[in-house]
Amino acid sequence: MNHLVAPSLLSADFLNLEREIEMVNRSQADWFHLDVMDGVFVPNISFGFPVIEKIAKKAAKPLDVHLMITDPDRFIERFRKTGADVISVHYEACNHLHRTLHAIRSLGAKAGVVLNPHTSVELLKDIICDVDLVLIMSVNPGFGGQKFIEQSIPKIERLKSLITASGSGALIEVDGGVDLQNAPRLIAAGVDVLVAGNTIFSSADPENTIQRLKAV
Ligand code: DX5
Ligand code: ZN
Repeated sequence: MNHLVAPSLLSADFLNLEREIEMVNRSQADWFHLDVMDGVFVPNISFGFPVIEKIAKKAAKPLDVHLMITDPDRFIERFRKTGADVISVHYEACNHLHRTLHAIRSLGAKAGVVLNPHTSVELLKDIICDVDLVLIMSVNPGFGGQKFIEQSIPKIERLKSLITASGSGALIEVDGGVDLQNAPRLIAAGVDVLVAGNTIFSSADPENTIQRLKAV
């Protein structure tokens, strides 16, 4: 499978959100990556339902919603109704991950689990066949524009082996500090979905940067 590119709107120009969404629609990007932060699970607050509802009206591509919130079970149904196609929850935020992932799937969305940099991929051994996607955080979540953590590359390689050995069809997504320099190594390590915020939206020509991330 050719890898996917998911621009993170966290780095978009919120005063011109409609224009940014249209750019992503026009581009070779595959998904919209939406970062929801509650100020508790991560030391930052981003946006919630009213904004996502508007994004969903304009977006012509699937919405990949990354929940950086505690106890996400409370809101899963509402995110699905608001237009989320992929819903990812943090391993560190779920007491009953199996239940949460099956709740997401039962709503007809793809179920993702996210690992913080300190969480080992080996912890997914008994759940890997219940997930559609594993999102590896390659920065500590909460902010765009941070430095890529190199240890993420061997971690992705270990995750790829785990997925292959288990026969799971889970996709590997990476999020945080992704740029044109590390993207080829990430793809070689087994990544299926590249998330990029700052690299795309701070570049002179975001549409062209998306094209270059796709061409890796
Ligand atoms: C960070 C978010 C990321 C963020 C990535 O907590 O999950 O999606 O927007 O931004 P960059 O690509 O700038 O590191
Ligand atoms: Zn994210």
